[in-house]
Amino acid sequence: MAFLLPAATAFLAGVASAQSLPDQAQVIDQLSFNVLENVPPPAEVNSTTLFVPAGLTAQSAYDKPFHVYHEDFLDIIGSNPTLTLVARTDSDPLFHEAVVWYPPTDEMFFVQNAGAMAAGTGLNKSAIIQKIALAEADAVSSLRNASGLVTVTTVPSNPMVINPNGATNYRGEIMYMGEGQGEDIAPSIYVMNPLPPYNTTVVLNNYFGRQFNSLNDVVIHPVTKDVYFTDTWYGYLQDFRPPLGLPNQVYRMTPSTGAVTVVADQFVSPNGLTFSPNGSYAYVTDTGSALGFYGTNQSAPSTIYRFAVSPTTGKFSDQTVFAFPSPGFPDGVHCDTNGNVYSGCGDGVQVWNPEGVLIGKIFTGTTAANFAFGGQGRMVICGETELYYATLGATGAVVRGQMS
Ligand SMILES: *[C@@H]1O[C@H](CO)[C@@H](O)[C@H](O)[C@H]1NC(C)=O
Ligand SMILES: *[C@@H]1O[C@H](CO)[C@@H](O)[C@H](O)[C@H]1NC(C)=O
Ligand SMILES: *[C@@H]1O[C@H](CO)[C@@H](O)[C@H](O)[C@H]1NC(C)=O
Ligand SMILES: *[C@@H]1O[C@H](CO)[C@@H](O)[C@H](O)[C@H]1NC(C)=O
Ligand SMILES: *[C@@H]1O[C@H](CO)[C@@H](O)[C@H](O)[C@H]1NC(C)=O
Ligand SMILES: *[C@@H]1O[C@H](CO)[C@@H](O)[C@H](O)[C@H]1NC(C)=O
Repeated sequence: MAFLLPAATAFLAGVASAQSLPDQAQVIDQLSFNVLENVPPPAEVNSTTLFVPAGLTAQSAYDKPFHVYHEDFLDIIGSNPTLTLVARTDSDPLFHEAVVWYPPTDEMFFVQNAGAMAAGTGLNKSAIIQKIALAEADAVSSLRNASGLVTVTTVPSNPMVINPNGATNYRGEIMYMGEGQGEDIAPSIYVMNPLPPYNTTVVLNNYFGRQFNSLNDVVIHPVTKDVYFTDTWYGYLQDFRPPLGLPNQVYRMTPSTGAVTVVADQFVSPNGLTFSPNGSYAYVTDTGSALGFYGTNQSAPSTIYRFAVSPTTGKFSDQTVFAFPSPGFPDGVHCDTNGNVYSGCGDGVQVWNPEGVLIGKIFTGTTAANFAFGGQGRMVICGETELYYATLGATGAVVRGQMS
């Protein structure tokens, strides 16, 4: 050959031939799809189209769902990663976002889609919160399809969290971002007791008297413990909130003083956000390409941005493109303890090293809006009508610090 193979490709060829891969993993050689026989126009193939690498089918991609794009991914998945479908519904998107692990009971909480037609939620009916016990998921992790074998329990928050969409551990409880409902129920931040009676308290519902658009996702800074959250227009784009009263932007709330400050703007649709393990970087996804009930805009952002977080002011600067995933759009975003970045995308969870190199995917073949680590080596992935449990080598960052 007239050119040198990149080191990563040589490595991957070695792994594939040595058959040292875990049972549920397969190597994806990106050179294999640099040149395709047929590349259709955007009206046929675009962000909404499932991408299946050359030589695979959707089924064979799903059969070995841990896709290794770079050797770094082998440490992340460990020697025996597993992916199990633990629950499914026919059309009601019960498994959407706000995936939160509560260590004292080892349960994973998640919420129904607040804006999907098939959920019947939004304007007249709030999305619900549900949970599973991870011990039940552990018990079936040797199966690929354990649908029906894991109990999904509704959590009767009281007063009810209205249209929850994002959530995080907060001072031993769970903080929810409520998207609001119609003109009269303002988007609000709620804190819920994760134990019965699941009592809730609203801790923020306005910006100097003005309603937020529809609060979306939240994360706690690992050092300052300030609350960072996104406000964006999905309630409007899903016909259950009025036209915007504020720009779509990222805010910080300082619990000790109550101060609410804008830390970053100039987004189309700021959505998921997280911090690197020591809090020096912030990652914010912009899902500007996803227009809810109004289709997609293929030229708008579908991008994970990285920012530097000022150690003195806590504001974001130095915006750079970290990744532009395809297919779909990057929604929820989380780091592991080594600073690798994971995001829920159109084909499952995609993973980048801290340099922004795609190193692998956990391929579900469907949109995974969000997911969460359950501590060491465990992950729950929400796929709208499908709920997945994964076991792997990596451990999620941040949660331990947020329990206090
Ligand atoms: C994207 O591709 C799908 C077919 O996969 C097509 O139905 C849709 O209209 C396309 N979207 C745009 C914006 O062109
Ligand atoms: C909500 O309720 C109103 C009034 O009862 C009704 O007209 C409307 O169709 C309902 N909207 C949805 C999305 O169910
Ligand atoms: C999993 O099993 C359920 C019934 O047990 C079935 O309806 C569903 O289609 C299966 N899903 C997959 C992805 O195999
Ligand atoms: C729930 O009630 C308990 C007991 O009154 C209280 O200590 C706790 O702060 C409450 N939590 C929330 C989120 O309202
Ligand atoms: C945080 O981590 C980054 C990357 O690992 C490192 O470059 C930086 O020096 C660390 N910052 C602090 C304040 O520890
Ligand atoms: C699509 O997104 C681009 C880039 O953000 C923007 O300039 C354009 O106005 C958008 N088009 C529509 C129809 O929203």
